[in-house]
Amino acid sequence: MTSTKSATAQACANIALVKYWGKRDSALNLPAASSLSLTLDALRTTTTVTFDDGLTGDEFELDGQAAATGRLGPWLDLVRKRADITTFARVVSENNFPTASGLASSAAAFAALAVAATEAAGLSLGRTELSELARRGSGSAARSIFGGFALMHRGERCDGTDCVAEELLARDEWPLRMVIAVVGGGKKKSVSSRDAMDHCAETSPLYQAWIGCVAKDIDDASSAIMSRDLSALGAVTQGSAMAMHAAAMASRPPVRYWQPSTLRCLDAVEALQESGLHAYPTMDAGPHVKVLTNEEHCEEVATGLRQLEGVSGVIISHAGPGAHLLPSAE
Ligand code: DP6
Repeated sequence: MTSTKSATAQACANIALVKYWGKRDSALNLPAASSLSLTLDALRTTTTVTFDDGLTGDEFELDGQAAATGRLGPWLDLVRKRADITTFARVVSENNFPTASGLASSAAAFAALAVAATEAAGLSLGRTELSELARRGSGSAARSIFGGFALMHRGERCDGTDCVAEELLARDEWPLRMVIAVVGGGKKKSVSSRDAMDHCAETSPLYQAWIGCVAKDIDDASSAIMSRDLSALGAVTQGSAMAMHAAAMASRPPVRYWQPSTLRCLDAVEALQESGLHAYPTMDAGPHVKVLTNEEHCEEVATGLRQLEGVSGVIISHAGPGAHLLPSAE
């Protein structure tokens, strides 16, 4: 008789308003600077982890297809070590959006995994420990453990125990929106954020300048959130994304995620701003443009982006909840 233990969890992607781009320790995946994000309700990953005595290796299925385990195996080893077990796991994950859209997020993936795998392994961890564990899979995942606005601390310790996220403001305390323009017809991104940020740190003459501006951005964004000042938060959001991409573009050879349609979106957002709307763009390791806005202006922002050449879809998202367990489907 084989024995199995299973748990299912759901987590949302998050979009950084102050970006994480560079590490102080690659082995423990410790960021070089703090970051701050908004968890998004519209982009969710649901993951079931089953530790099964009958398995001879870890298995991974994504959106109904067998997939490479990649960094999943070494990450599951961290859970096994902590729980003092040696059993392999079957991991079944589903995104509620097309994985090929380029919006698939390691943040949602490792946050859902952290909650499901620790529960299935019989561990009972608090949010801070879950955030630390999720970070080992992907830095941005530490933030998706929390809902609403999450602040990820750079931390000072070498072991990374203070390198965790916390919730700054719950999602219902400031009903903002993120409008996502999907650009590039769902083409896969060229360079992963992990490889690109390492390459940027090694070769970009602008990398140190980029890191040097993060602490003030974190202070300004945190104050803007506490005082519900969208213009101030938007200015930091836009500035942080542009500074990150400037540093990436100055890498040798360059890392450029922007496509012609990306610029069309940025132009359109600028025009919306000039017409008096709250609309502040940000971008990650891909060509898509995400626009921070409010409840009142989000439809107009979405309409402005939807009509642009090269924009294959527009998603309007509310702020989302933190990673959580779902009732088991037995
Ligand atoms: C541009 O969290 O994917 O989205 O820690 O190496 O897995 P690893 O990196 P990852 O980097 C995210 C980079 C970003 C900005 C952000 O989310 O803060």
